Amino acid sequence: MIVIKTREQIEKMRKAGEILAACHREIAGMIRPGLTPLEIDKFVERFLAEHGATPEQKGYHGYPFATCASVNDVICHGFPDERPLKNGDIVTIDMVVNLDGWLADSAWSYAVGEISPEADKLLRVAKEALYIGIEKAVVDNRIGDISHAVQKFAEEQGYSVVREFVGHAIGQKMHEEPQVPHYGPAGKGPRLKEGMVITIEPMLNTGVWQSKLDADGWTARTADGGLSAQYEHTIAILPEGPLILTQQ
Ligand code: MF3
Ligand code: CO
Repeated sequence: MIVIKTREQIEKMRKAGEILAACHREIAGMIRPGLTPLEIDKFVERFLAEHGATPEQKGYHGYPFATCASVNDVICHGFPDERPLKNGDIVTIDMVVNLDGWLADSAWSYAVGEISPEADKLLRVAKEALYIGIEKAVVDNRIGDISHAVQKFAEEQGYSVVREFVGHAIGQKMHEEPQVPHYGPAGKGPRLKEGMVITIEPMLNTGVWQSKLDADGWTARTADGGLSAQYEHTIAILPEGPLILTQQ
C-alpha cells in the first residue's frame, strides 16, 4: 500500500530532515584521519538526543547502531567500529532520524583527508546521480523514470549501479512501498502522486555492481573489492516539484 502524506505530515518529516541535515553538516566538519566511525556514531546519538530526536536504525531488525558507516569497498550497512579512518579513505554515513514519530533518511559519502582522483570522481558522480534522480521525482512520472535516469548517467560515467539495495517510500515507517530501484527501464513502475515521500539513494561502484555479505550479516561489500559511494535524500513529491526534506 502506498501511503500519501498531507502537507502537515510532510512538514513534520521536514523537521526530522532538518535535524538530520544539520547532523551531516557537523560530521562534514569533523571527518579527518584518525577519527573512528564509532566516535561519529556516538556523536550522532548525542546530537539527536540534544535535538529531541532518536536514531531509527538502532534496533531496526536488530541493527546495533545509530548509523551505518561504510568505508571504501563497503557498499552499505557497515558497522561503525573503532578502526581509525585513514587519509585517502571514503566513508558513507547513513542514518534515519525519528522526530515525534516521523522519519527522514539521508546518507552522505565523505572524503577522509586527501583522496585519489579516482575516489574524488566517484564521489562527484555519485552525488550528481542522486540529483539527476531527484529531477525525475515529479507528479505523473513513474518510479522507473527515476531508476533509468540514475542508471544511464552512472553507467555513462563508467560506474556500475548496485541492484540489491534500493530506495523506498518513507513516513512513520522506515521502509514503505514502493521500492525505488536505481536501475531499470523508464516508463515502468508506480506513478508518482502528490504527497508521496520517497528516498533516492544510488550506490555507485567503480567495478562490478554485485555485492557480498560479511559474516556479521549486515556489511555489504563490492564483490570485486572496488570502491563504492552513496548519497541519499528524502524527497516529497509535490505539484510544484520535488521537495528535498534532508537538504544540507
Ligand atoms: N538508512 C537505510 C536505508 O536507506 C537503512 C539502513 S538498514 C538499518 O534504507 F538496519 F541500518 F537500519
Ligand atoms: Co534509505
